[in-house]
Amino acid sequence: MRHQFISAVLRGATLGGATLALWWTTGCGPRAGSGGESSSTASGPARYTIGMSQCNLNEPWRVQMNADLKAAAAKHPELELIFKDAQNDTLKQRAHVEEFVSAGVDLLIISPKEAQPLTEPVARAMDAGIPVIVLDRRLLGDRYTCFIGADNVKIGRAAGEWIVKTLGGKGKVVELKGLMTSTPGQDRHNGFREAIAGTDIEVIFEADMKWLEPEARKEMESALSRFDHIDLVYAHNDPGAHGAWLAAKAAGREKEMRFVGIDALPQEGVVYVKQGILDATFQYPTGGAEAIDTALKILRGETVPKEITLGSRLFTPENVDQGGEPLP
Ligand code: FRU
Repeated sequence: MRHQFISAVLRGATLGGATLALWWTTGCGPRAGSGGESSSTASGPARYTIGMSQCNLNEPWRVQMNADLKAAAAKHPELELIFKDAQNDTLKQRAHVEEFVSAGVDLLIISPKEAQPLTEPVARAMDAGIPVIVLDRRLLGDRYTCFIGADNVKIGRAAGEWIVKTLGGKGKVVELKGLMTSTPGQDRHNGFREAIAGTDIEVIFEADMKWLEPEARKEMESALSRFDHIDLVYAHNDPGAHGAWLAAKAAGREKEMRFVGIDALPQEGVVYVKQGILDATFQYPTGGAEAIDTALKILRGETVPKEITLGSRLFTPENVDQGGEPLP
């Protein structure tokens, strides 16, 4: 019964003429792609409502994360998963968390856009007794139930080591960083810098492309106009590496340099490697299936670890047909 009520609240159903939808008051209507919500439930009566706050659905990797969550939840008729898309807007994502808390969901999953501004709303969910799983990007402090994600420092370090090896320890590199107010951007930067320290790899240009392909392309245009030789572009995600490649191609310079990215989605980065666009990409798993698995354990009252670290794989033209190789 409680579940039906929450579901009704989140959907804007009416009961006795009174609109229950708290989130209508925020002005976010349930239009697809409008920051509204969608819900996924297997047939049969659901007993638990899980709110999923996604920071942006305009990127292939996040579409994949939602699809992975949905597929995993569909195997459990006792779960209903309600998605909200903040459309890359931190304030909207804060409001979404508050709406899930007001509606009294049984558990919250969040993949936060930025660490600092989402920390407090999540702490308030915990205060309200709602367990929280944080996926992929971290918050500050430890006011959450479980964090699930790959080790971004390790991935950044592995990218740096691969770059040092491939360039023979010397070269001019462009670093296109992910949003530096999000933790994967900070970690992929720090790991990379650690690995190239003491070598003759020189970062001649760095910019925050905020995880977005068009931003990366624009930043790369500046790099190309300022430097007449670039050996390699290290981008913190595959859309960034592809944006850089498009800029280099438009300038007729894509053969001059190598391109390295992160994510390795089968339909994105791995295809770029096969097409000869990327020289390397490091897998960044979405954690969708693991999040549902962990949510079920929490809802059943089992203890879960505070942190679940996912593995990664390296894909290059040499190993792509064998499915890449795991990072040691
Ligand atoms: C998608 C994305 C991925 C990246 C991840 C980091 O929004 O930018 O490309 O690996 O977020 O949080």
